Amino acid sequence: MSMLSSSPASPAHPAAATVGAGLHASPAVRRAIDTIVDEIAAHSAKVTDTRGPLPGLKEEYDALMARAAAVRGRALLYPYLGSGVGNRGLVELADGSVKWDMICGIGVNFFGHSDADLARASLEAGLDDVNKHGNLSSNFEAYAFVETLLKEAARHSRLKHGYVATSGAMANENALKVCMQKTGGTRVLAFKDCFMGRSLTMLAVGDNHVGREGLPINTHVDYMPFFDPIAADRMGKSRFIDMCLWHLDQYVTRYPGQHACFIFELVQGEGGFNVGDRDYFKTLMDYCRSKKIAIWDDEIQTFGRLPRMFAYEQYDLGDYVDVFCVGKMTQGCVTAFTEEYAPKAGLLSGTFTGEGSSFRIGRRVIERLRDGDFYGDQGAFARHHAIFREQAKALIAKRPEWFPAVPAVGDLVGGMMRFTPYGGDKAKITAAARAIFDEGVILFSCGHGPYHVRMLPPLPVMHESDWPRVFACIERGMAKV
Ligand SMILES: Cc1ncc(COP(=O)(O)O)c(C=O)c1O
Repeated sequence: MSMLSSSPASPAHPAAATVGAGLHASPAVRRAIDTIVDEIAAHSAKVTDTRGPLPGLKEEYDALMARAAAVRGRALLYPYLGSGVGNRGLVELADGSVKWDMICGIGVNFFGHSDADLARASLEAGLDDVNKHGNLSSNFEAYAFVETLLKEAARHSRLKHGYVATSGAMANENALKVCMQKTGGTRVLAFKDCFMGRSLTMLAVGDNHVGREGLPINTHVDYMPFFDPIAADRMGKSRFIDMCLWHLDQYVTRYPGQHACFIFELVQGEGGFNVGDRDYFKTLMDYCRSKKIAIWDDEIQTFGRLPRMFAYEQYDLGDYVDVFCVGKMTQGCVTAFTEEYAPKAGLLSGTFTGEGSSFRIGRRVIERLRDGDFYGDQGAFARHHAIFREQAKALIAKRPEWFPAVPAVGDLVGGMMRFTPYGGDKAKITAAARAIFDEGVILFSCGHGPYHVRMLPPLPVMHESDWPRVFACIERGMAKV
């Protein structure tokens, strides 16, 4: 009998007498799944430390990379092609090399690699007749997933319903439609440096000119400053907040009744892991409420990885949220809204809204986050963050020449980790990320200047003792730049 046989991811089949329920309960199927999960665990256990490519595989790997580049018409940004197996934060690539994955597909694989429980969830979902769910072909899996999310959200928000979508950008598109339909507005308020995804409209809303080169701007966006701790310190926080409120009022007075929503990314991801401030957010949200401008909270990057499950809980602002989006680590993406914001029939739909396996895995991710010892000031995520900071500060103390000017470790939270070498110079940080990759750690950058080294590690499966091993690779890589 399998060590991993008790599946908390029970099928979402409500009717036990159906043939479908019979398939899921079949002893032969259960045994087969147990066997596969045990094999995954046994193979995963062979991945124990970083290593270079296996003899003879480098050429094959380079050939695969060239084929992938030919398909795309452009070389891969990162030389990452997985073998299909890893172990917690370690991942094996197709050339046999093993690396610490400290970016996890930009925050997607929060439970790391070859997690037995999630592998089981995926296998169970694979039994179903449809994998792609959509408006006319959906098993209960999608609803079980959103129901689990909404149950957690109900603790500290008014969010009541949710629609699934295939990507964060699509969930955001749905959120924008919900806000526009409810308020009748067409303009959008957003923070400088926000990122919303890569659809045409989300690129127009997001504040990064690079990704929208040559594209039309199809939505009117009025940008507000994000909370700036340096300016707030220099001029006094309440003066900073008053100044920004005046700025917001100017926009709303100039375009009366035209703003559909204000998009809040409470901790900015792509824009540089910038941390906000409750008083600042609350002042802006109070203003939006008074003007009937929807408050839309994009938690696609932050969800799950802060010291509270929801970023709005971190800032105690849940009551303000009208519309909310999640994606990345939840695998399925969701647009959630309050009763008041429920859209009219036909506004949200799609041939594909996601995959049964994504929904099943997403449900398990939320359940495990809920049931684990992760959150709170003494929780595992806060502890990991403290160790990350200790390690980063030790590196800065040891090699101060790599860390001039810009504050080298910001005041951050939970599993959104950044440090800033080379004064935030983009070219040097990109070169460092590549050298660190070669030394065994996969990480990325964020920000629009200064740039930062960005990490979204698989915190639930990391051990505190992993951090010195990760930082040893980082130091070796940086020494090569
Ligand atoms: C805050 C935020 N919103 C939206 C998105 C877009 O999500 P996706 O890439 O799944 O479309 C991202 C992706 O990085 C994000 O960080």
